[in-house]
Order: sequence, then structure tokens, then C-alpha cells
Amino acid sequence: MRNALVLVVLLMITCFQWSCRSTPSAEPAPSASLDPAVEARIDELMAGMSLADKVGEMTQVTIDVLLAREGGKVIEPQRLDPDSLQAVLVDKRVGSVLNVYGHAYPVDQWREFVRTMQEYATEKKASGIPILYGIDSNHGANYSSEGTLFPQQIGLAATWNPGLVEDLGAMAAYETRASFIPWTFSPVADIGRDPRWPRLWEGFGEDVHLSSVLSAAMTRGYQGEQLSDDPQRVLACLKHYLGYGLPFSGRDRTQAFIPERQLREYFLPPFQAAVDAGAMSVMVCSGEINGVPVHANKYLLTDVLKGELGFTGFVVSDWADIRKLQDVHKVAKDYKEAVKMAVNAGIDMGMTPYDTEFADLLAELVEEGEVTLARIDDAVRRILRTKIQLGLFEQPLGDPAGYPRMASAEHAELAYQGALESLVLLKNDDDLLPLPKTARLLVTGPTANSLIPLNGGWTYTWQGSDSTYYPKDKMTIVEALRAKLGYKNVNYAPGVGYEEDLGPGQLDIPYIAATWADAIVVCLGESSYAEKPGDLYDMDLPDVQIELVKTMARTGKPIILVLAEGRPRIFRKAEPYASAVLLAPLPGNEGGRAIADILLGDANPSGKLPTTYPKYSNSLETYDHKHADQDGGHLDPQYEFGYGLSYTTFTYSDLQLRADELTADGQLIVSVTVTNAGRLAGKEVVQLYVSDEVASITPPVKRLRAFQKIELAPGASQTVSFELSPRDLAFVGRDLTWITEPGDFTVRIGDLSGQFSFVGEKVKY
Ligand code: BGC
Repeated sequence: MRNALVLVVLLMITCFQWSCRSTPSAEPAPSASLDPAVEARIDELMAGMSLADKVGEMTQVTIDVLLAREGGKVIEPQRLDPDSLQAVLVDKRVGSVLNVYGHAYPVDQWREFVRTMQEYATEKKASGIPILYGIDSNHGANYSSEGTLFPQQIGLAATWNPGLVEDLGAMAAYETRASFIPWTFSPVADIGRDPRWPRLWEGFGEDVHLSSVLSAAMTRGYQGEQLSDDPQRVLACLKHYLGYGLPFSGRDRTQAFIPERQLREYFLPPFQAAVDAGAMSVMVCSGEINGVPVHANKYLLTDVLKGELGFTGFVVSDWADIRKLQDVHKVAKDYKEAVKMAVNAGIDMGMTPYDTEFADLLAELVEEGEVTLARIDDAVRRILRTKIQLGLFEQPLGDPAGYPRMASAEHAELAYQGALESLVLLKNDDDLLPLPKTARLLVTGPTANSLIPLNGGWTYTWQGSDSTYYPKDKMTIVEALRAKLGYKNVNYAPGVGYEEDLGPGQLDIPYIAATWADAIVVCLGESSYAEKPGDLYDMDLPDVQIELVKTMARTGKPIILVLAEGRPRIFRKAEPYASAVLLAPLPGNEGGRAIADILLGDANPSGKLPTTYPKYSNSLETYDHKHADQDGGHLDPQYEFGYGLSYTTFTYSDLQLRADELTADGQLIVSVTVTNAGRLAGKEVVQLYVSDEVASITPPVKRLRAFQKIELAPGASQTVSFELSPRDLAFVGRDLTWITEPGDFTVRIGDLSGQFSFVGEKVKY
């Protein structure tokens, strides 16, 4: 009887929770996980705040507006302007500042800037609330001139190594905090479902599981186990919520059509995983989904993110995106209406980033009753929560002596490890690689002698294209090969640019130079870009680059292609001429060194593709496409997702499924033995795919459900086990809930497969 009563009460509680969920209140109830001491401190602070203080807290401007100018132009070397500091940080009480103006600064300059801003905020502003400085430290502290730069996220994804990603995240946090900056706009949790998208390389690739695991790992690297006052960690910012990575046109910030079922199954989980890992800020997607700009989408920002996902941090707009509700999207008649829409939708901080009008309009809207004070208080509470957790009230700066590992050899080594594991060997006919140390090489191509295509955008400058700011002591591919083989054994002839037409006789020099060489390293790919400037008309590598390969092939010398690029540019017409192909997905400043080590056998490649590599521009499907997509045999990628060679050979044997049935509350242990059958030590990514044979929503041909990277000495074997639960087989059903349906499943690891059935009733989560 007592048990029955408990059950009834439990059911009532559950029903109550469920009804709260389905009709969410304006401000989601604070989660039980909140720290009462922090909340009490927020109450105390907010009791003394005026409306002007509050709307100022919700405003973020770029550093540009604080810099001294002459004749309208920022004075170089840059310095802060006292009048602007007073006007913006004190009079308007702006709570957050972001970015750099134009280019990276040395750490000392950063400290000086942040110190001055914090002085204005904490000593001159009445509330004394410190500012929260935020920056795009996307692949290391890339806006500090001394920063240690590691691979962009697409390269990190190619490592398939969550531990390494976490360590690199922690290193980026340390080096960002060394400049007294406590907030990075990273990681990107968007999955890139269209390889044309110019921001593909900013994320962890096309797969939802890989992106979820790595988004969580990077968040832990930035924040530690949870956001705290650890002066070596920073606040992470997940971006760009939600549905950014599948623009219909393939171009940045253009409309997307994504049904809610797909949004939930593919786009939401990486955000959920990183929120669960403690991420305390989220940046909104600049695009629109199904006709609604995400910056105006209350359902996604408030109901789903803050309600369902239980996100207790704050939501920041992307660059000028509130104003764009008026200017670009045309859903608001003026800026004031745009502010109202965005804040009511759930945006807590406006990256305006040039105006403080946002704050004024917001105050007016509150006074007119168009935005409730409860909404403002919720936003401010969320922002203050992170400032308190970061320890900014006690220590708005940092200890200048507290960062001895900034730009250290130890950090460079970790970045090198990241670069090394990011490289993916795609082809190696007749074991051409590794090359002997006695080789004489001709190196040619547009990416051969520059750090720019190894780093991509967000490198010292937004577009990453200004070589002035790149370090002189980091090696390009040519320099690294020369360092290993001796200057005289490596000839370099640029050959061609990225896309200019070929001039008469332009390829004569590399052609003649090649006659002397034992092999030709042709370095192709893309120069740097970020966001819209990276929009493409054509996925194919430009003809001039293909022509370089064809001409070099006429020498009869073996060709090694190195592709340095952010997205998989189609090179089908050059591929047959190359005996070996190495992909360098924006490996960072240690990339040249890592490439040379792989080409010459001082390291063994272990990267695997985090996206499908297309062969044709009209066939850009992801690996987890539907059966209908491959009906008629029109799917023929250049290389499959998850693919990548090693200099050693891994064999898979003894795939065992502990049972042939899985029940709702059960677990299925799947194990496989991996053997290094070659002569070199190497790392292998053991990938477990599951196919749902029949389902109520057309099932994808397969899905990655688990993976593990292992290292094996020559001759060694390891048995790798995975535990699958029914949740690992789930998908989002027609009613938009996650479900696991009874039926038959196939597990694939390497070239092995096994079957099992999920028995019992359908499970809903
Ligand atoms: C980008 C964001 C970035 C922000 C601040 C925007 O244009 O979309 O990814 O964090 O600028 O630099």
C-alpha cells in the first residue's frame, strides 16, 4: 500500500514536471544544481542594481569602440581612449567587451588593456561589477602574438582523440587567461553537414557522435570539471546554437530548412553533451531555420536550451545579429523591435558590437512593458553567475607571474602532438611513404611555403591571411623538409598560385627542377578564410592546381600530394597522378614539422577523416545517408568518413557480442581484438557503427555509436570492449522524442560484423 502511494506521488511529480516542460513558463525554473551561495550573492548584487545597470550588464561591445582614434582612424600602436572608457564602461555600464581590433596583441599589451578596463569597471562604475572580456581563442590563444597554435577543430576531429582535445583545450585556456581574458568563444558544436560551408573546419566534422564527444572534451579542457575560479581556466562558449551547419545554399549565414526531428537528432546532441559537461555560455546561430532567424526563436533559445537542456549559463548573440533582425532578416521594423524580439526570445547579452543603443532601447522596452523585468533579471542573473563563478569579483585580472608555461616548449610539443594526429594519410601506393632520408625532393604548390594554409582563419587576424603577424620560427612544409633532409636536398619552386590562370611557360621551372628529384611533393589546397569571405562557387580544386599535378606527373617522378585545406576540395582529376596523398586539415603552426615527420617516417599517421571526402560536387552526402541515397549506385565518395591509413597494418579479429539480444534495461558488451600486424608502432581508431535494419523513420545505412583510439606496439594485440545500451541505438521518432524500437541491428567494427536484436517494448527517453 505504502509503495503504491509512493508510486502515485512519483507519478504526480513526473506528470507535473512534464506539463511544465510542454508549456514552459517565461523563465525556466532555476535548476537544483545551482549553488545557493552563488545565488545569494547574485540576489545581493541585483538588489543594488538599477535598470540602467542591468541593461548595461547585458550589453557587449567590441574593443574597437574603446580605442583612441585620430581623424576617425584607430591610432597604431593601439591604445585605449579614456573618454570612451568612461562613456561606455562607466556611464553606460557595459558589462562585456570582445575581440581585437585588426590583429593580435602581445600578452603584455593585453594585460594592460584588460587591467585598464577592469579599473574603470570596478573602481569608477557605481556597481563595481567587473567586465567579462571574451575572445575567439579557437585554436589556442590565436589573438595573442605569442600564442601556441594547434589544429583548428576539423584537425582536432581528425585526431579522434578526446583526451588530446581536452589537453589542448586546457592549454588554450591557460594561454588565454595569461592575457587576463577569462572567456573564449569556443568550442563550435555545430556539425558540418554540407562540405561547401565555409565554416566546416571550425567544427568537429559531420558526425553527431564524434562532435558530441569532442565538444564535451574541449569544454572540460576550457572550464575544468566545472566553471570555477581556477585562474588557468576560462569560460567556454558553445556556438552557434542551432542548425548552422546545413545552409541550403552551402554559403555562410543563409537560410536552412531543417525539420525539428533532424534538429533534435543531429544538431542538438553536441550542445547537450557540452552543456552536460558544464558549458556556461552559448552563442546563437546567425542564420535562419525554416524562415525564423534563430536570434528570434524563443522556442529554441528558451524552451529547448534553457528549459529542456537545463542550461544555467547565459546566451550571447552573434556579431550584430540583433540589428540584423531588422537589416538582413527583415522580421523587425526597427532596431527597437529587434531588441525586443531577441531579448524576449531568450538572448541574455547582445554582441551589439558597436552601439550602446541596445541598452537604451532595452530600458525603454522595460519601461513600456514590452520586456518584463523578470526577463531582464533572469538574463542578468545568468551573466553574474558566470562572473562570480570565474572569481572575477575577487580577482578581475590575474597574477602576471602565474603563467610560466605561456608559449613554452612544452606547449609547442602538445600542439605538435595535435598536429601530428590530425594528419590523415589517404593514399600510399606501393608504400611510397615514408620516403627515405636520402631522398632528394622537389616541393611545389601554393601551400608549400606558407603557414597561412596550415592555420586558416582566426589566426592573428580574423581572416588569418596577414603573414606579418605569423611567427618567424615556425616551419612551413618546405622549411621543415629542408630542416630534416638538408637545404640542398629540397628544391622549392612555387609553380602556381591558388587559383590564378596559368601563364605561358609558368610550369617550366618546376618541371625542369623535378628532373633532378627522386620524388615531387605537390602541396595544394586553400588559403585562409573565415565566415562569409570563404563562400565558394565551386568545390573542385581550381584547375590551375590540378594542372600542376598533371604537369609534374609528366616527369615520371612519383608524386606525393599534400592537401592543406579546411574543407574537402574535390581533386578527383589529380588523384590518379599521385602515388600518395596526405591530408593536412589546418594543423596549426606545428603542421609543417608534423607533415615532414610523417613524410619521412619519423612519425606514423593516425588521423581519420571526420567528414566524407566527396569525389563529385553533385554528391555531397554524409556517411550516415539513407539507403535511398545510394540506390542506383550514385554514391561514390573519394574517401569514406572514418578512413585513414597507417604505416603499419592493423587487423581486426574475434568480434564478439556477449549476447544476441538486448533488453530495455540491459547492456550489450561488444568486443573486438585489434592486432598491429606490421613492423611499426602505431595508433588506431577503433570505430563501432550500428545499422538499424528496419525502423519507423527511414534508418541511415549506419551510424557511428562509439569509438576508441588505441596505441599498439608491433606484434601487440588489444581487446577493445564497448558497452552498448538501448539509448545508443536511439533516434528521434515522429513525435520528436528519442526512441529505441525493437528489431534487428548490425554492428560493424573494421571489416567485421555481427547481429543482435533489441527485444521488448519500444523505449522512449
Ligand atoms: C562569428 C563568431 C565569433 C564572433 C566574435 C562572429 O562573426 O560568427 O563565431 O565568435 O564573430 O568574433
